[in-house]
Amino acid sequence: MNTAAESVLIHPSDTHLTRARQPLHGGVDSDAQLARALRALPHAGLDVTAIVVTGDIADEGDEDAYTRARALLEPVAAQLDARLVWVMGNHDDRAAFRRALHGEEPSTAPVDAVVDLDGLRLVVLDTSVPGSHHGELSDDQLSWLQHVLPAAAPRGTVIAMHHPPLPLPFGFLGMTGLRGQERLAEVLAGSDVRGILAGHLHYAAHSTFAGIPVTAAAATCYTADILAAHGSMRGVDAGQAFDIVHVYDDRILHSTVPISESPALYEVTAEQLRAFMSLSPEEREALAHA
Ligand SMILES: [Fe+2]
Ligand SMILES: [Fe+2]
Repeated sequence: MNTAAESVLIHPSDTHLTRARQPLHGGVDSDAQLARALRALPHAGLDVTAIVVTGDIADEGDEDAYTRARALLEPVAAQLDARLVWVMGNHDDRAAFRRALHGEEPSTAPVDAVVDLDGLRLVVLDTSVPGSHHGELSDDQLSWLQHVLPAAAPRGTVIAMHHPPLPLPFGFLGMTGLRGQERLAEVLAGSDVRGILAGHLHYAAHSTFAGIPVTAAAATCYTADILAAHGSMRGVDAGQAFDIVHVYDDRILHSTVPISESPALYEVTAEQLRAFMSLSPEEREALAHA
């Protein structure tokens, strides 16, 4: 199979940048976590089409948090010549999100959008419910989606939404899930939607919804300890990650990148690899068994 992807998407989620850069839950510098996530991207040799941030960008919906998110992400997107796509989460504020991230007039209407990524249609759905932590799509949003989807996109559709349409089997988190999933399933039936990117869980999860693959990326800020005793809630400063999404013509590949400081155990330089690849298959084989 051809290893060149149609599109490469960078998928961070739940950056939770705080008001005035206060430590998140008293212990995490979420700005630094995001910066750490982005650090290697410009030098990784990826042909990135878009960076898609699936919500909870600000911890409390502050404009200064959005301004800092732009300051961290926009230069990287520019370096990669990639689109930057923001998705609303339950910790975000629609008015501040609109004003600070999009330079638009503040409004409390859902922030839904269609973004064309060279023939791949990215549909951004705002599952937030102002004042609540659970997710929901209104009748208007569902009928908008019903009008968007029938005209198939050349390379199909990927949906980006904060609340994943999945069961949440771990304790209290189940209270904050996406409601009305059966209605969304009806709208997606028979559509060209190839995948759903989500966040919200603060742990990585993979499943299907109405036959469509769903991937919730872990958070960049902190992780939910899903084995916390007796179904209690416990956030931990470990396991933060983001995903790299390769969209091929016949499948979508999600690769998870840990954000933690990682001491190298070994390294083969790009020059050494190039030299190795320039050898004949027989020479490579001989070297591999030397
Ligand atoms: Fe979150
Ligand atoms: Fe969330």
